Amino acid sequence: MTDAKKPWGGRFEKSPSRFLDEFGASLPVDRRMWAEDIKGSIAHARMLANQGVISEADADAIETGLSQIYREIRDGSFDFRIADEDIHMAIERTLTERIGPAGGRLHTARSRNDQVALDTRLYAKGRAVELLAATVKVRETLVRLAEDHAGLVMPGYTHLQRAQPILLSHHLLAYFWMLSRDATRFRHAYESADVMVLGSAALAGTTFPVDRRFVADRLGFAEVSANSMDSVSDRDFLLDLTYACTVTMIHLSRLCEELILWSSEEFGFVTMDDTYSTGSSIMPQKKNPDFAELARGKTGRVVGDLVGLLTVLKGLPLAYNKDMQEDKEGAFDAIDTALDCLVVVDGMLSTMAVDADRMRAAAHGGFMAATDLADYLVGTGMPFRDAHEIVGRLVLALEREGRTLQELTAGEFAAVDPAFGVDAPAAVDIDAVVARRVSEGGTGGEAVETQIVQCQDVLAADITLLESLAE
Ligand code: ARG
Repeated sequence: MTDAKKPWGGRFEKSPSRFLDEFGASLPVDRRMWAEDIKGSIAHARMLANQGVISEADADAIETGLSQIYREIRDGSFDFRIADEDIHMAIERTLTERIGPAGGRLHTARSRNDQVALDTRLYAKGRAVELLAATVKVRETLVRLAEDHAGLVMPGYTHLQRAQPILLSHHLLAYFWMLSRDATRFRHAYESADVMVLGSAALAGTTFPVDRRFVADRLGFAEVSANSMDSVSDRDFLLDLTYACTVTMIHLSRLCEELILWSSEEFGFVTMDDTYSTGSSIMPQKKNPDFAELARGKTGRVVGDLVGLLTVLKGLPLAYNKDMQEDKEGAFDAIDTALDCLVVVDGMLSTMAVDADRMRAAAHGGFMAATDLADYLVGTGMPFRDAHEIVGRLVLALEREGRTLQELTAGEFAAVDPAFGVDAPAAVDIDAVVARRVSEGGTGGEAVETQIVQCQDVLAADITLLESLAE
């Protein structure tokens, strides 16, 4: 294998050892860009023929040979060899072995430096679309759950202490907006990858009369890069995509953390479906939310992928450096992991059972109507600070007695302070407390209905965008 002839073998008298071949190879990582590499090469060959750099017959032979290789890789019959170093060499070597000198002309006016940048951009665009689509799927599920559980009150928390009652729909839709921002980031990552870099050659451009716009049009790129040195050394589009994956993972880890808490006996708000749970090898009673925990845990690795890529790029002199071969492993891992976790989270959300009674009951604990009771006193003309003090003392007394605000009669309220009228109990009714949050973006039922319409508009826009990107 070490003896396989190197494409650059001309100026060498000795070859690297087998160990060094493997150390230097990126084939195990970049072989997944095979389809992009073949599409890019066919476009390049067609352009070279149009420009009279190679003959039409050579371009035909190249296209036929590459199409055959495409089918073999797709069907799993292609012979990958580590000595090929990377996917670009694997395909070009096989092509040349099969079609002879025409294969040797494919690399005219091209370097692996612009070739790998092109392939990676094509690949990143495809995956950005998939990621965007996956966020649409989870967001559709969140909206469906928000509609199915309309009106269900539960505790809202700050500091993980019960704070004010909210609607489950409102809580779930908070994640809708996080994922919508993620979708915006995936769109941005798509756009930053959508620049055609072929024709930059090794770093300085080429002496051949290439038609870069033809290649861009044929491969569906929005524009052609303006600086050949930047083109072969820019991986910002991968950073953008990896960052978008990382933030998505951060969001999913928060959601998963809540699902883990909610499915504990202490909360008891949801029960994970059996298909999204695992048992214990020793404790027969256990039902663990493993998949939520895994999604939360994998977030650490994706953060590492982002930091790794940033660190690879830091301080690199222009233009291409072999360091850049290290760009893909982490980025691909971040993409794969974020996509998988979006699918897992969607499945968990779609199948979990919500315990409405537990949520409603929990919403009555924790004196969460206290703010509204203070606001009630403010309505009678009392300064807010005085109202805060009176309600605070009332909460302290009730806490000692083991009672809730909802258990107090109008007479008991009046005994606490004469400012309390007969309508004081209504001020602490939990459903009323929620319904009063009518401010735009608040948890009141009507505000949430308006929010659901906004969510549907955002989803419709993203679906239209996806359709246009898939064209
Ligand atoms: N496998 C390389 C990479 O992923 C391709 C570019 C190699 N270019 C070079 N001059 N050695 O970056």
